Amino acid sequence: MDQIRIGMVGAGFAAAFHTEAFGRVCGIDARVVAVTSQREQSRTQFAQRHGILATYEDLTEMLASEDIDLVDLCVPTYVHAEYIVQAAQAGKHVIVEKPLTGYTGELGQGETDLIGDTVARSHMMDWVLDQCRYVQAEVQHAGIRVMYAENWVYAPALQKARRLIEAGAGTIMRMVAEESHSGSHASYARYWRLAGGGSLLRTGSHPVGGVLYLKQAEGLARDGAPIRPHAVMAETARLMEMERFQAEDERYLTGDLADCEDFGSILITFEDGSVAQVTSSDVVLGGIYNYVQIFGSQGRIECNMNPNNQCVVYGPDEGAFGDEYLAEKLSTRAGWNFASPDEHWASGYYQEIQDFVECVAHDREPLSGWTLARDVVAVIYAAYVSAEEGRRVVVPLE
Ligand SMILES: NC(=O)c1ccc[n+]([C@@H]2O[C@H](COP(=O)([O-])OP(=O)(O)OC[C@H]3O[C@@H](n4cnc5c(N)ncnc54)[C@H](O)[C@@H]3O)[C@@H](O)[C@H]2O)c1
Repeated sequence: MDQIRIGMVGAGFAAAFHTEAFGRVCGIDARVVAVTSQREQSRTQFAQRHGILATYEDLTEMLASEDIDLVDLCVPTYVHAEYIVQAAQAGKHVIVEKPLTGYTGELGQGETDLIGDTVARSHMMDWVLDQCRYVQAEVQHAGIRVMYAENWVYAPALQKARRLIEAGAGTIMRMVAEESHSGSHASYARYWRLAGGGSLLRTGSHPVGGVLYLKQAEGLARDGAPIRPHAVMAETARLMEMERFQAEDERYLTGDLADCEDFGSILITFEDGSVAQVTSSDVVLGGIYNYVQIFGSQGRIECNMNPNNQCVVYGPDEGAFGDEYLAEKLSTRAGWNFASPDEHWASGYYQEIQDFVECVAHDREPLSGWTLARDVVAVIYAAYVSAEEGRRVVVPLE
């Protein structure tokens, strides 16, 4: 296929940077030809802003169009699984944003029921893994591709680390990884029912995806088989409910999660005995904070996706640099800041979309595909069980 026609599902934050990335694809004619989202006004405005000709009321209407090869799911987690199945049944390839899915409640539960406070994590884990099996069967039956938009896999720093490991950093023995910031902009993120979890799932899926990918790649390069996660120990917390913090007059942290954790940390043990310490938090001032440190038997690698010091700026006040973008989720533009020269490139957003379009055009596997997507969910839900029950949990792999 030398032309790929994309149907964008969602018209918010992720849909905007995906659409920009489609516009930069090289070598293949990739076009976002249609958009659908929950609210008419947002999809119409999105279509106008990005020069998209068709808008659809819902995914069902979009999938009926013969002019679409691929749908890109930039919608909240609670509809990911359902929409993948719908797309598969219509024979369309799928890009799905992270996380692949999450526990989003039983039939009859309302959108804002606080299920994060009431449902046992072991039940959530079984439910989610059953759902993964069902979605995988539908995808296989339909013969379509699911591409998992984990941008950490495509971040240039992480790909450099992979090449360095393959060239001679020996065995990855330990990794330390984190993605943290001051909380999601999206209103759905307040509720477990819509987001499938809190900080650990929503944000932690990035560093979990990153370390799982590196061990997969190490195993594939050396022995022809991925090294997968084996067991987890974890803790979660709601730091913003701390009494001392609640009593403070001046608040810079504004997150207001209804029934989700705002901090999580997992110790992952892999099949080969190596370990990874992964943290995510919504309680971090000073901008987004994404890194992975790799301790190999023959070398050590540190990847600082964000912040990085390619361009460090000082502004005496908020307005010093006008409207020019500095970096994601800064607490203030005054003082010293790390201004990202090209944040989307450094985050791997352009590279993931290039890979996905090539996969469809040339009928090949993406770097970030089903196994990674599914294992991330399995690790994080095993971590939820571990945190609730205070014990080590074996990660269910099938
Ligand atoms: N890779 C990244 O760095 C990154 C960053 C942000 C978000 N995300 C992911 O992108 C996805 C969307 O997050 P966002 O930040 O863009 O959220 P958002 O709130 O900015 O946008 C969500 C969009 O989905 C639409 N929507 C909501 N429910 C819908 C439904 N049932 N059917 C159709 N449309 C629906 C909304 O109308 C809105 O247009 C999530 O999976 C999130 O985890 C990834």
